[in-house]
Amino acid sequence: MTLAEVNREPFIDKLCERQVLEEAITELYERAIRHARSEQDFGQLVEKLVAFQQQERAHVDMLEQAIRALGGDPAQMTPSIRVMRAEIAGLAAVCESADIALPHVLSALFAGELIDHAGWELLCDLAREVELSEEWLRRFEDALREERVHLAWVRDQLSKATREEVMATPVPPTA
Ligand SMILES: [Fe+2]
Ligand SMILES: [Fe+2]
Repeated sequence: MTLAEVNREPFIDKLCERQVLEEAITELYERAIRHARSEQDFGQLVEKLVAFQQQERAHVDMLEQAIRALGGDPAQMTPSIRVMRAEIAGLAAVCESADIALPHVLSALFAGELIDHAGWELLCDLAREVELSEEWLRRFEDALREERVHLAWVRDQLSKATREEVMATPVPPTA
């Protein structure tokens, strides 16, 4: 992997930070898939959730390869990773809580995908500036394209679930 004469460590740090989020989102999709399989109303979402989870896993693997290609260690602990872990602690908690419905998981997924999409946008900009090799830049841009689709789809599903919930609630009479 080529990289212009820049400070390598902070760039590797950004890759590690992205990898941590991708792992957390993969877990969130796991939780959403389990819910969708067990709730009749959401069965039609399973196929898409599984497809997106596979793409998130591929992002984790790609980032790991990129970190190694630049001489980094994907298992290292850095300040950016600590910050990202603190930021996404709520998303991880959603995966562990026992009594939540799929719309709540979709809400957490939406928050995660907003960060995921913004993170890839930043990383692609940074990768162009540090003159990352064409091949890696193309792979990063492919990931960004996938993130756009994830974000739009999760937003649509959350919006649909929220509208259904709100419309199903009778409006209380006003005095
Ligand atoms: Fe991702
Ligand atoms: Fe995503």
